Amino acid sequence: MKYRYLGKSGLLVSRVCLGTMTFGNKEWGCDQDAATKITRRFVEAGGNFIDTADLYSAGVSEEMLKNAIEGMSRDNLVLATKCWFPTGTGVNARGLSRKHIIEACEASLKRLNLDYIDLYQIHGPDPTTPIEETMRALDDLVRAGKVRYVGCSNLYGWQIVKANAAADSMGSTRFISAQHLYNLVRRDIEREILPACDDQGMGMICWSPLASGLLTGKYRGQETPAGDTRFGVQAKLYLPRYWWDESLALVERVVETAEKHGKTPAQVALAWLLADDRVTAPIVGARSVKQIEDNLVAGDWDLPADDVEKLTEAMPIKHGYPKEWMDGTFPGTFGTAEMMPRHEVRLP
Ligand SMILES: NC(=O)c1ccc[n+]([C@@H]2O[C@H](COP(=O)([O-])OP(=O)(O)OC[C@H]3O[C@@H](n4cnc5c(N)ncnc54)[C@H](OP(=O)(O)O)[C@@H]3O)[C@@H](O)[C@H]2O)c1
Repeated sequence: MKYRYLGKSGLLVSRVCLGTMTFGNKEWGCDQDAATKITRRFVEAGGNFIDTADLYSAGVSEEMLKNAIEGMSRDNLVLATKCWFPTGTGVNARGLSRKHIIEACEASLKRLNLDYIDLYQIHGPDPTTPIEETMRALDDLVRAGKVRYVGCSNLYGWQIVKANAAADSMGSTRFISAQHLYNLVRRDIEREILPACDDQGMGMICWSPLASGLLTGKYRGQETPAGDTRFGVQAKLYLPRYWWDESLALVERVVETAEKHGKTPAQVALAWLLADDRVTAPIVGARSVKQIEDNLVAGDWDLPADDVEKLTEAMPIKHGYPKEWMDGTFPGTFGTAEMMPRHEVRLP
């Protein structure tokens, strides 16, 4: 297993993060026995970075994770959880107010049976709470020793930069990471969010790295997803997100690349993400030891650069304006790459 620093922090995390959204889900997830086996296998292979949320199975994921890590060395683990989604019917049992953040954190600590959380993340933006209130509440948790680092998820680039600027102005803790949907099929964050995180010294941990299983190649030849898989059970949600002619054609390219290297399509799809050093780790979801075994290979294996490029070009994304405008105008205005040490300027 290889490790990467989480953004510009001093925290080293395994470059495969274990996602636990499957833990306790009765339709497409796993029970305690499988959750424990998956977690043990992950840690045995050198994984130290595990992600959960108070949302997942209404707290059951956190409880199952607590059981799964029992007896392990706490110091060797980097445990991440999140708040934001409703946790009850009360008007304040949601969002990013000081009241909810602190209550949600206390509840997660209890369910996880921990003294502190390594990475506490806001699960989404709350436009009704001043960002200063949110960042100060997160900072108070850090200063109280309940949280070590803070991160965000599902924010726009401007919201990330605004939040960090607010934290800076108050001398508070900034975000060190973002957690966003990113995979070979959905590359939306390349336009603006990934550059914003890079600028802010934040690591990107990607959710849905296998496009809900599409990139494993297991749906090849199927008209619609069959069986009790995530796609089969939640077709309404996942078909529009991922199941298109172009993405099914892309899966064929991933399968060819995997065959060339004697790897599985899942391993290729995960390695493609890790080829970008702005990405710290894909968060891999698994419902069985077999799946985590497969996905763990990405912790050590690098996809050769020419294959990375070919897959990047297999289903290009439209960047649109202002990138198109910059591509035409910037090189003529600012000249050559030597003047921009951190940024390679590609002449059109
Ligand atoms: N911040 C957020 O808003 C957010 C949102 C979603 C998830 N997350 C985090 O990200 C993690 C991963 O997200 P995700 O579960 O949506 O990831 P994903 O990569 O899109 O899908 C994972 C699913 O793909 C299938 N799969 C995984 N590995 C496989 C393999 N090797 N072979 C065959 N099938 C395989 C399994 O489903 P089947 O067996 O059912 O096919 C598994 O549950 C979550 O656990 C959670 O921690 C965060």
